[in-house]
This record gives sequence, structure tokens and C-alpha cells, in this order.
Amino acid sequence: MLNIRIEKNPNPGQKPDPDTLSFGAVFTDHMFVMDYETEKGWYDPRIVPYAPISLDPAAMVFHYGQEMFEGMKAYKAADGRVLLFRPDKNIARANNTNKRLCIPQVPEEDFLQALKAVVKVDEDWIPTKEGTSLYIRPFIIATDPHLGVHPSNTYKMMIILSPVGAYYPEGINPVKIWIEDEYVRAVRGGIGEAKTGGNYAASLASQVKADAAGYSQVLWLDGVHRKYIEEVGSMNIVFKINGTIVTPKLNGSILPGVTRDSVLSLCREWGIPVEERLIDVEELVAAARSGALEEAFGTGTAAVISPVGELRYEDEVMQINGGKIGELSQKIYDTITGIQLGKLQGPEGWSVEVE
Ligand code: COI
Repeated sequence: MLNIRIEKNPNPGQKPDPDTLSFGAVFTDHMFVMDYETEKGWYDPRIVPYAPISLDPAAMVFHYGQEMFEGMKAYKAADGRVLLFRPDKNIARANNTNKRLCIPQVPEEDFLQALKAVVKVDEDWIPTKEGTSLYIRPFIIATDPHLGVHPSNTYKMMIILSPVGAYYPEGINPVKIWIEDEYVRAVRGGIGEAKTGGNYAASLASQVKADAAGYSQVLWLDGVHRKYIEEVGSMNIVFKINGTIVTPKLNGSILPGVTRDSVLSLCREWGIPVEERLIDVEELVAAARSGALEEAFGTGTAAVISPVGELRYEDEVMQINGGKIGELSQKIYDTITGIQLGKLQGPEGWSVEVE
């Protein structure tokens, strides 16, 4: 159990207009901070006014990228309850990332306590307009001022909060995705399944290319064969092919998404066949040509359920479901957001109240 010190912000900020909320541009009044030293473990957990931090220019995070982050959301239910969605999954994934990046583990109960405490302090910042929520960004950075390449002995864990609207300007309208055949994101044995900045840095060159061609994101192919579907820049990818839900299996280079897992659980519960397997891009192209590819959507905390209306691979442009959101995608979106907002009862343990 953490003994969290709270220092209230004497100059609370202006809440953003919910009608014009974008993603990740506005931050709340407070942040959670906790430090680590090898001899002391995690210490001095505190909630303090949101403000810039000071770091030594030699801090290892700046040079070798030893850092991790997570993404979660808090929602305000119609009855005023503040709800987190499956925080245990994010916390477990965070500690898997920590293990891969040689960052110390954070005890699960302390992580959850910190999340709840900072969300509670800034609960008035949770927007309630449809499609909005409070995005939670926990992260840990290596702070040793040292240029040798080895794990740091000191770290800073922080949790910042951002009232957000849709990740894509398209909202729930289908996005266009470019299948990348030049760069790769990750390989098995690398850091692809960890949630760490390096994966996103590696994605930027492709993202810029896709942007210039009028596409929202890239869909990655595997780094070895360059032909198996992996994931999209900011979300996992799911297809409906001939009535079956098909998604790349977690092979070690794909992020194990919490929304991905939730969607697959719901589909299985509804009796829809689900396959987690290798998907050859040529199989996808053939399914699109024959009409067997009925729906495609991305899943992610930020992206929620994001229908894909168009895929481009080399010179072939494939329209999916006439560029419109599919029936199953809509049902999944309604169910996931219904559970997140406390309107629908989800499976045991999916909704966790911040009291
Ligand atoms: C999330 O969905 O929470 C993520 O961290 C993805 C990020 C690119 C916004």
C-alpha cells in the first residue's frame, strides 16, 4: 500500500470544450510521480500540480530509450461512477514491458492504487460527451545521468491524464490504411510486444509516407517474411472473412492489446468463430477481391474500435464494405463502449470503480 502525498494545484486550469476535443493535447491539473533507486525501491509516491520536470541532459532515457508507457481510459457513468476498463490487464502488460526493458517491476496493487488516486483527484476533468473520455498515460523513464549502455539504477514513474475525443479525426467513420512493404516495425525476439517508445519511433517514417498519400495509418507486415499481417500504427487489426473473425496471433512482435482481447472474448461469447493465426497479405488481397473480406477494424485504447474502409497494398486499393462501417464492427463498438461507460454489464472484473 502506497502512502501517497497529495499537493493540490493552486491554479486549476480551464476545462476544454468537449465539442472540439482532439486526442492528447490538453492535460489535467495534477500528475502522479514516484521515484526509484536500486537500494530504496520505489519511494515518495505523490500527486502534485501538473508541471514540466527537470532532468539531467545525460539521463539515460534520452540516449538509449529505456522507457515504457501504457494507455488506459477513465469514464464517467451516467450515475456519476468513475470507471476504469480492465486496468489489471494494462498493469500486467506494463510489468511485462518492464521486464523486457530491464525496468523494475511495479507491484500491481500499488499501480492500481496510484491510477485510482490520480484519477480521483482530477475526476472533474472526465468529459461526458459521447465519444470522449479521460485518457490515462502511465510511463516510466530511466534517469541515471550516465552514457554507458546498461540498465539505469534510478527511474521516475509518472501518470498524466488527458481529456480526449476520438484518436482519428474520422471518429467512428472508416479510416484508410496503407499496408507497408518497405519498413518493418518489429521482429520476434525484439521489443514489438512491449509498449515502449522505440516501437513508435520506428513507425514514424512510414507514418509520414502514408500521411502524404492520404492514409491515416500503416498496417505492418512481419519483419522476417515481409508477408504476414501484424498490426496498425496505433492499434491491433481484426478482419471478418466469410463470417469468421480473423486476427494475427500474438507471435512475440505484436502488441497484446487489451481491446483486442476484449473483442475476441465478446465474439467468442456471441458464438462467432474466432481465428488467431498467421494471415498472409496475399490471402487478404484475395479475400478483398472475392468479397470474402466483409469487415475490417482496428482495436486499441486510444482508437477504441476504428473501422477500416480502405486498404492499399502496393498498387491495389481495396474497399471494404463499400467504405462503410460494418454491422458487426458497429455492434462491437456499441458493446465495448457500453461496458466502458457502465451502460452494459460486461464480464466479471472488466469495470473497476474509482471510489
Ligand atoms: C493506446 O491506444 O493507448 C496507445 O497507446 C496507442 C498510442 C499510439 C496512442
